[in-house]
Amino acid sequence: MENILLEDKLYILNTYRRMNLNLVKGEGSFLWDDRGRKYLDMFSGIAVNNLGYGNKEIKEAIIEQLDKYNHISNFFVSESVVNLAKLLVENSFGSKVFFCNSGTEANEAALKLARKYGRSIREDKSEVLTFYNSFHGRTYGGLSLTGQEKYKEPYKPSVPGIKHINFNDCKDLKDSISEKVCAVFLELIQGEGGIKEVSKEFIEELVILSKKYRFLIIVDEIQTGLGRTGDLFAYQGLGFTPHIITLAKALGGGLPLGAMVIAKELENVFKPGDHGSTFGGNPVACAAGVVVLRKLLERDFLKEVKGKSDYLLQELIKLRAKFPQIIIDIRGKGLIIGLEVGDYADRIKQRALEKGVLLNITSGTVLRLLPPLTITYEELDLFLKVFSSILEEISEG
Ligand SMILES: Cc1ncc(COP(=O)(O)O)c(C=O)c1O
Repeated sequence: MENILLEDKLYILNTYRRMNLNLVKGEGSFLWDDRGRKYLDMFSGIAVNNLGYGNKEIKEAIIEQLDKYNHISNFFVSESVVNLAKLLVENSFGSKVFFCNSGTEANEAALKLARKYGRSIREDKSEVLTFYNSFHGRTYGGLSLTGQEKYKEPYKPSVPGIKHINFNDCKDLKDSISEKVCAVFLELIQGEGGIKEVSKEFIEELVILSKKYRFLIIVDEIQTGLGRTGDLFAYQGLGFTPHIITLAKALGGGLPLGAMVIAKELENVFKPGDHGSTFGGNPVACAAGVVVLRKLLERDFLKEVKGKSDYLLQELIKLRAKFPQIIIDIRGKGLIIGLEVGDYADRIKQRALEKGVLLNITSGTVLRLLPPLTITYEELDLFLKVFSSILEEISEG
């Protein structure tokens, strides 16, 4: 193990804070390291492995597609790509899909489409509003949309014409809207921003203003989409219809895949040649994506996610009552849950690792729980047992 960790340091550019582990195998909700130690994975490769590890159907679909071809270019149609688009359209507000390879690229596509749409109405309708604390990716468009200085500061200047406003602040929204705005970009639960949910009141205001000023509502569902909140897409749980959603993470069943799903009235904004990607909509990734979508759409799958969420939240609320000095707040929905634990975050993560549970921290002080959606009640109990033992330890000093 030492060897691969050392060589990783030697050859891989130092942009990630690696954990001191060499994981060699995954099955269901568990990962194993090279010493045979077993870990319960409570963050699913950051909301990617929604069906857990080693899903047989995903594997078979990938092999079946590889037996045909792995790439033919977007000059040609491909069955798995069309099948996945059809599933997305038939189960959302959308009427057409653009495929790319990652979340940030899906947001780039949406930003470009929004500006072209704005131009078709008036020359200066190019302003984009997004929110402080948001996260939309690392390429220049995604980074410029992101509302956290720590990610952007060294790379300025950002893409012009993007303004950040306060999340859930109706007054700030009203004051910032004008005929020049072509789109408002938002996450319905700010993921990297510490699991903060949008309010119903704010969405209602946004929808009213969007009709009046003809701007697009673009929902970044990269982390919240594909069953994570207990609905197929988070917007469905809030009872409104966006103009565009962007997807990635879980979409390709662990393979790189992003998508932009658009409403009917936007179908003709892009013309052939206006946007594209060599690898976008890779047939192998889309074949895996078809399996993911079909599984999420199976009878009762999402109902079970909601049931497991209710159970987990109820048990976490009990723990907060017992350890109010450590668990300051519990936020989230479905199986995207944030626990505000202040300065204890790193210590909890480290102790959990020692006890065989992998945890993720976001915003410095928030434990972000993103288990596979297929996690069982017994596995949730295992997490709760380890977590409460760590809380005991801390409270005993
Ligand atoms: C809400 C949201 N948008 C965009 C992104 C960027 O996605 P990717 O890393 O695939 O480019 C992420 C990644 O964490 C995200 O959580």
